[in-house]
Amino acid sequence: MTLLYDVVVVLHLLGMAALVGGYLGVLVRRPPVPAPDLLMVWGARLQVLTGLALVGVAEAALDGDVDHARVAVKLVVAIVVAALAETGSARGRRGATVSPALLHGAGALAVVNVLVAVLWG
Ligand code: HEM
Repeated sequence: MTLLYDVVVVLHLLGMAALVGGYLGVLVRRPPVPAPDLLMVWGARLQVLTGLALVGVAEAALDGDVDHARVAVKLVVAIVVAALAETGSARGRRGATVSPALLHGAGALAVVNVLVAVLWG
């Protein structure tokens, strides 16, 4: 089970790389600020799924001491990130006007979750 946990941690970190890397990637493009791309959308989805899986494996099989307050904060933030990325990306693909707030909100809140993961507790 430790191996399974470690594999999910790797997927969690790859999801973070896709999400934050996707944000930085679209940031360096020329204005106008583009919509969140599919890399960000899939990174955000992966973070919610692998985050929940980490908690599940730790509690069910590893007798892990999970900090529920931290997990709750990360889950709420991650769901908002996914909602912003999904909405912005869908609007962009339809050719509609996309508020830059969707892109920057998703990117900034993703970084907030990295800070929560590393600095809390
Ligand atoms: C935007 C979304 C997210 C980002 C950017 C993110 C980022 C990270 C990072 C960088 C780590 C490694 C921390 C370290 O090893 O010091 C981590 C670990 C972890 N994350 Fe997330 N995370 C996100 C969402 C979630 C969600 C939604 C959950 C749970 C529902 C979650 C639960 C965990 C757990 C259990 C760990 C394992 C290690 C630990 O306790 O620090 N994460 N996350």
